[in-house]
Order: sequence, then structure tokens, then C-alpha cells
Amino acid sequence: MSNIGKEQQYYDGREYWEGRAKKYGSSSKGWKAIGLMSGEKYYYEYVDMIDKRATFNFIQIHPGMKILDVGCGVGRWCIAFARRGADVTGIDISEEMIKLASDNMKKEGLDVNLVVKSSDEMDFPDSSFDLVHCAAVLRHVTDPARFRKSCENIVRVARPGGQILLKEWAPRKRKESGTNIHIIGRAYHEYKHTVEREGAFLIREAGVHLWTRLDQAYDTIAAKLVPILKSRSGCRGESIETKEFMEVNYPGLSRLFQLGRRILISMSKPVELYLVPLRPFGALCDSRLMLFQKR
Ligand SMILES: C[S@@+](CC[C@H](N)C(=O)[O-])C[C@H]1O[C@@H](n2cnc3c(N)ncnc32)[C@H](O)[C@@H]1O
Repeated sequence: MSNIGKEQQYYDGREYWEGRAKKYGSSSKGWKAIGLMSGEKYYYEYVDMIDKRATFNFIQIHPGMKILDVGCGVGRWCIAFARRGADVTGIDISEEMIKLASDNMKKEGLDVNLVVKSSDEMDFPDSSFDLVHCAAVLRHVTDPARFRKSCENIVRVARPGGQILLKEWAPRKRKESGTNIHIIGRAYHEYKHTVEREGAFLIREAGVHLWTRLDQAYDTIAAKLVPILKSRSGCRGESIETKEFMEVNYPGLSRLFQLGRRILISMSKPVELYLVPLRPFGALCDSRLMLFQKR
């Protein structure tokens, strides 16, 4: 834990993400390497497909365009941007993530500038990039001071007239993340106000991943069920992932959960592909794309 806030302690992002990178980072080049660990192959492929579709519907990438990907992980977005001819820089708080990202760029034959750097400490000159992209990162910057500094930097390094694309867990109203100290459910307007205060204005927004809303029913059941099952089987290890625990101890139930998820995801697919960028469907989503333009 770092001790930045006097009243409240926040987790140490560098240590946490380094640990995750070492544990999962080499599992794929995509979302699986850094995302939730509770899903199956179809889940990661689906999330990645919807993310890419929504993103490239929002922004146009031109050859030579200068793009900064903040919190690039193992390079999922760096690959997508560089393949479209952009001049890409990726930063990440974790050294291991950057190492894996650079291995992935080599495998892809892509030339991307990768730097170990956290969003609140980045020191690129002002107005360096045409687009600053930041997906699923700021939700993990739980410390309010670091969050504000990160937003300040993100706007600062974008050129006037340049764009900033955030993809965040940004529900209409702030949501509690329960016992998970690594994520924060800031409301959509908190992102909007913080970025706008730094000198960029929101030009477009849309919800993505309606099914995560539906999926919460499963999470609620699991949150109640898993501790009971753990104590029944004498497993007190907090560190064991729910998915691993269920697969080992309750394989039948685990398969049933996965099947339920799969059905929910398949059911919401047509809505997500065609209707979610439109209101009111997008308003039902907690995951949101927010496109800003710097003044
Ligand atoms: C959920 S992953 C998302 C990775 C990538 N953006 C993607 O969509 O595939 C979050 C990433 O942000 C990085 N990260 C977390 N806090 C950060 C910070 N303050 N500055 C830079 N990177 C950070 C983590 O190391 C991790 O790679």
C-alpha cells in the first residue's frame, strides 16, 4: 500500500500490475492478458471485438498520426493503431507489461515506442500527440490526486484540436466496487468534469458492453455463494481466484456459470453491435467511450 492520502490508503499500482503481468501477461496478446480472469476464450474474443468495433467507429486513424496509448498493457491497442500506419507510443506503469508489449510488437513486426511510465508522472512535452487513447486504466487509478494528475497530463500532451479517447467503467451514477480496492466506479460526469476542467470538451460518448450489466446478476450470486462454498471445503485462501476455486472444487457448477454467461453475452450481441452506440441503449451500459477534443 502506498501512503499518499492521509485519511485513506491506496493500493500500490506498480506492484499490483507487475504481479498481474507476471501471472497472466504471456497468456495472449489481447484482452485476456490483462482483463478479468473469470472468462473463457469466447468472452475475451467478444470483449475485444466489441471494443474494437466501438473504438474505430468513434475515431479515424491516419497514417503518420501521433498516438499515445496510456496504460498500454501488453499492446492490444498499440498493435491495432500501428497496423493502421500510426506513429504509436505506449506507456505503462508495469515494467513487465512493457517487456511483454515489446515482445508482441517484435512478433508483429511493428515499430512502437514503449516506455515504463505512469499516467500521473508522464513527462512528454505539451501538445505532443494527435490522439491520446486510454482504455480501462483510469478506473484503476483509485487515488483521487493521481487521477486528477493523470487527467491533467492526458490533456496536456494532446495537441490543441487533438482528441482524447477514454474507455472506462463510468456508470451514470458512481458505483461501489465492494471489497475490490483495485478499481473504482467513478460516475460518467466525474470523468467528464475532470477532463473538461483541464481544457478539453466532450464531443461524443456511447455505452458499450450492455451484457456486463446483465452479468452482475451472476456476480451477485457468486459473491454470496463462493464464500459459503469456500468455508465448506475448508479453503480460506483469499488469494485463490474464484474461477480457479470453482473449477477445481465445483466443476459442474463452474460449467453452469460459464454457460449462463455465454447465453447472456450471445443474447446481447446484436444489441451491442448495432444499438448500443445509440441512446437509450448506451445509457444502460456502465462501460463507456468518451471522446474529447482539446481546445
Ligand atoms: C485493464 S489493463 C488495460 C490495458 C490496455 N489498455 C487494454 O485495453 O488492453 C490496465 C493497464 O493499465 C496499467 N496501469 C494501471 N495504472 C496505471 C497508471 N497509473 N499509469 C499507467 N499505466 C497504468 C496496468 O499496468 C495495465 O497494463
